[in-house]
Amino acid sequence: MGLHSPFTTSAWASIALWVISICPNQATALSASSQLTSFNSTFSLSSQQISDANFTLSDVDSVNNIIKWEQSQYAGGPTTEDIFYNLPTIANGSNLSPGTLIKTEDFTNITTYSLSANLALSRILYMSRNLNGSSVPASAFILWPFTPRQFSTSSNNTTSTTAPVVLWTHPTSGFFSSQGPSKHRTLWAGDNAPFALALAGYAVVAPDYAGLGVSVDFDGKHIPHQYLASPASANDAIFALQAARSAFPTRLGREFVVMGQSQGGGVAWGTAELIAREPELADGYLGAVAVSPTTDVFSGAPDYIAPFVSFGLASVFPAFQSEEWLTAFGQGRANVSAGAWRLRFAFFTAESESEGIARAGVNETWEAIAYGRLANAGRKEVKGPLLVIQGTEDAFVPYAVTTATVGDTCALFPGNGIRYVVSNGTGHVPTLDATRMLWLGWIGERFEGKDVEAGKCGGGSVLESFFAH
Ligand SMILES: *[C@@H]1O[C@H](CO)[C@@H](O)[C@H](O)[C@H]1NC(C)=O
Ligand SMILES: *[C@@H]1O[C@H](CO)[C@@H](O)[C@H](O)[C@H]1NC(C)=O
Ligand SMILES: *[C@@H]1O[C@H](CO)[C@@H](O)[C@H](O)[C@H]1NC(C)=O
Ligand SMILES: *[C@@H]1O[C@H](CO)[C@@H](O)[C@H](O)[C@H]1NC(C)=O
Ligand SMILES: *[C@@H]1O[C@H](CO)[C@@H](O)[C@H](O)[C@H]1NC(C)=O
Ligand SMILES: *[C@@H]1O[C@H](CO)[C@@H](O)[C@H](O)[C@H]1NC(C)=O
Ligand SMILES: *[C@@H]1O[C@H](CO)[C@@H](O)[C@H](O)[C@H]1NC(C)=O
Ligand SMILES: *[C@@H]1O[C@H](CO)[C@@H](O)[C@H](O)[C@H]1NC(C)=O
Ligand SMILES: *[C@@H]1O[C@H](CO)[C@@H](O)[C@H](O)[C@H]1NC(C)=O
Ligand SMILES: *[C@@H]1O[C@H](CO)[C@@H](O)[C@H](O)[C@H]1NC(C)=O
Repeated sequence: MGLHSPFTTSAWASIALWVISICPNQATALSASSQLTSFNSTFSLSSQQISDANFTLSDVDSVNNIIKWEQSQYAGGPTTEDIFYNLPTIANGSNLSPGTLIKTEDFTNITTYSLSANLALSRILYMSRNLNGSSVPASAFILWPFTPRQFSTSSNNTTSTTAPVVLWTHPTSGFFSSQGPSKHRTLWAGDNAPFALALAGYAVVAPDYAGLGVSVDFDGKHIPHQYLASPASANDAIFALQAARSAFPTRLGREFVVMGQSQGGGVAWGTAELIAREPELADGYLGAVAVSPTTDVFSGAPDYIAPFVSFGLASVFPAFQSEEWLTAFGQGRANVSAGAWRLRFAFFTAESESEGIARAGVNETWEAIAYGRLANAGRKEVKGPLLVIQGTEDAFVPYAVTTATVGDTCALFPGNGIRYVVSNGTGHVPTLDATRMLWLGWIGERFEGKDVEAGKCGGGSVLESFFAH
């Protein structure tokens, strides 16, 4: 769950800065009309939505602003207005096997994106596999470094013409097609890791999990995002990599590390499990980094989690109806969150709420228990090495939950190569920033072929702030 205040960034200001820093000579040529100060969205709640969600007039103002702000983060408008996300006509397209490359955009026009300087972007469409094993189309981006990082080993000094690969599995960006990271100005939480990795010389291959990005399948049916289903999103990751290799065989190195945070931390962990289950997918795999990973779907507040899991649950349990989990009030609010997922922080626990969002005991329904078994990463065999990083002050993925998952997994599979680094005093997203040097170092060592520190499964260290009092 990448948690960012809606009001801390001005994308327009960053675009202006970007233009000035890349093109100093052209900065003066910018016309005043390109400097927008308004939202790039005309969104307005309908009267039906307002009454379904029981919003007050001041709620309506705030909700409209939040949704307009979020929609203004779509680079060049929503996915539904970008033909890149349309599938080509392919006879029996839905039978294409996972990993098939469907479409390649070599050079994405980054004018409406806000990336770190000198990085280039490509996008692909490819075939993935959902939780129940069906093929499903999805999108991904590849973020390219200006020049690839070189690793010299003692026996090989050849300059590499390919970039080493980090497969990045993103934190929660939303639940619907317009919320795919490949269509977000900053690639969704770009600064937290993708930019850092690309600036360090890695090619970052990053899936939009199925349902985010491409909105309909080859049969024209809506693609549900199977939220927090780590095996499904692990498929998205590994098959995005296979397709990216087909698209850019001379640019991507064979070896890769998978890394993710929050929802994506669970996915990185789930990818290490997928590779243990299906060793034929292991080609080039060097290890995984799971930061603040989701390993227990219902450990958080049900009011937050239940609506978002419910959006895609009928694709797993066909008879499921959202009213089994959500109150009428909760359904009205969940409907509005289709426009902007950040709304949950302000409006899923609003003071005017009379009956709550989730029905009592939602975490004890059979669907919740069965989904947790299918979806959760952890307590299974992994292909290591796996570095798990967790902050002690994490309000969304509790330190105790991750510690229990690491402990149980190592008790069941003592041979799993898991290292556990605890960052003392940091919260959910900031843990990723606090440990940047550590994970960049760990990833570099995997490409250098260094042996992983031997040690007991789950052993590790505690990182302290050097300037705390
Ligand atoms: C603003 O939105 C419109 C309509 O969706 C889109 O065509 C345009 O590219 C967007 N502008 C920017 C700067 O993203
Ligand atoms: C599509 O699939 C059907 C059934 O699997 C098959 O009979 C048909 O020949 C296929 N068509 C093409 C163009 O591959
Ligand atoms: C990139 O997009 C911008 C605005 O969206 C447009 O003005 C420009 O011509 C495009 N560049 C190329 C090379 O297509
Ligand atoms: C690799 O390069 C280093 C530094 O240039 C040199 O000392 C070393 O002998 C080289 N090794 C091989 C195997 O060529
Ligand atoms: C040396 O590295 C290059 C570039 O990565 C690779 O193509 C070649 O196979 C390597 N040679 C050996 C002996 O490992
Ligand atoms: C499996 O997923 C596909 C695609 O979402 C869906 O059409 C199908 O009904 C699902 N099957 C079951 C048993 O849920
Ligand atoms: C939620 O939206 C769906 C489809 O737009 C609609 O059928 C349903 O009545 C809405 N539910 C509530 C409680 O607003
Ligand atoms: C709607 O909100 C009002 C206060 O704004 C509250 O008194 C009422 O109970 C709410 N109704 C429901 C169904 O939540
Ligand atoms: C469900 O949530 C309640 C309240 O948070 C908790 O007491 C209970 O143990 C949970 N049940 C399960 C099966 O996790
Ligand atoms: C974190 O730091 C506090 C204060 O120094 C200390 O009490 C606590 O034990 C530390 N936590 C861990 C996991 O080391």
